[in-house]
Amino acid sequence: MKITINQAPQYVGQEVTIGSWLLQKRGSGKLQFLQLRDGTGFMQGVVVKANDEELFNVAKGLNQETSMYVTGMIKEDERSSFGYEMEVSGIEIIQSAEGYPITPKEHGPEFLLDNRHLWLRSRKQHAVMNIRNQIIKSTYDFYFENGFKKIDSPILTSSSPEGTTELFHTKYFDEDAYLSQSGQLYAEAGAMAHGKVFTFGPTFRAEKSKTRRHLIEFWMIEPEMAFYNHEDSLVVQEQYVEYLAKNVLEHCKLDLEALGRDTTVLENIKAPFPRISYTDAIELLHEKGFDDIQWGDDFGSPHETEIANSFDKPVFIVNYPKEIKSFYMSTNPEDPRTVLCADLIAPEGYGEIIGGSERISDYDELKERIIESGLNVDAYEWYLDLRKYGSVPHSGFGLGLERAVAWFSGVQHVRETAPFPRLLNRLYP
Ligand code: 4AD
Ligand code: MG
Repeated sequence: MKITINQAPQYVGQEVTIGSWLLQKRGSGKLQFLQLRDGTGFMQGVVVKANDEELFNVAKGLNQETSMYVTGMIKEDERSSFGYEMEVSGIEIIQSAEGYPITPKEHGPEFLLDNRHLWLRSRKQHAVMNIRNQIIKSTYDFYFENGFKKIDSPILTSSSPEGTTELFHTKYFDEDAYLSQSGQLYAEAGAMAHGKVFTFGPTFRAEKSKTRRHLIEFWMIEPEMAFYNHEDSLVVQEQYVEYLAKNVLEHCKLDLEALGRDTTVLENIKAPFPRISYTDAIELLHEKGFDDIQWGDDFGSPHETEIANSFDKPVFIVNYPKEIKSFYMSTNPEDPRTVLCADLIAPEGYGEIIGGSERISDYDELKERIIESGLNVDAYEWYLDLRKYGSVPHSGFGLGLERAVAWFSGVQHVRETAPFPRLLNRLYP
């Protein structure tokens, strides 16, 4: 019977065959312990010399990442966190690997990134991708269960929602085109057709930032809701993030353990999240001795981290100054210097996970903001149409998938959260 490692619990006491790779091996004169992996999980295979000396010698000669069919009896094993192991009775080598570059010793990040196509097989990297996969699944579950429809926004676009400095330019036959920075503007059109929608696609920023939070290509989940004001949108955001944390904790136990993640932090991600205004956050920073920042400046990571450390949950910083935010954000009626927006800041220095706002719904005001921002009005004619024909208050936000994965996994750098990260100066592999 051919099974996979994750099916092992159902086959205790039975002889099965598993197509697998050798992750690592250790042994003594009498026993060989094979750490097997098959994509679905990790399990130990034990080869006993006294049972079969020839087999023992085959096991002893196996190299890391050799592929093989391993046959044996599944047994319970309370010492491992998986809980099962195999008493091996047969090994059929498919391909004997030689000189696998990623050995159990420590390697530098550039070396690992050069070997990303292989590094993905490592226990921790496998765990991070499992968590990414869970977040993707839970995202679809959450939005579909809550009456949202998925509207796919284009990747090749003619407009720039998040400013013109970070655009990837390309030719679209004879026209100029840009890789999508955000699906938001299209999601807004979708919301006027379907009420509650979300986009979930790749986005691109030609940012010359080399930080642990920045990727050149990342995936964003962008819900957009008609008839929702900014506060309504904050409630969706905190419920969504709470739902993600709950599902990662429930379905990724072994992965979180493999990563050594402190799960109490994740258990604490429960709505509602505290809110602090930008203006109060500036004051808080001054109290904490940050004299370098003035009202009107954008926060850097040390500022965000300091603000996050003042709370025991993720925190919304609301109502930033208009000048440092995007053109489409509604003016805050209580303080017209600011806009109705929020950034959700994660604890532990993971920074901004979500950016969102209520959108301008008035035609004239939006047109003026487009012009003020130095954008080409012609490219936004379709977007302005949404304010011409049945405009309604609406709000939305964007969650960066890789930042959420980094936060939940506890890995320090977003480069470990994308299968093939695109970083400043890295397009390979
Ligand atoms: O704050 P941003 O730029 O907001 C938007 O794009 C809005 N159009 C979203 C919306 O309202 N629909 O980006 C949103 C999120 C950030 O909070 C962050 O999590 C992530 O996207 N993000 C990045 N992640 C990795 N690398 C980068 N360079 C990122 N830039 C933004
Ligand atoms: Mg932002």
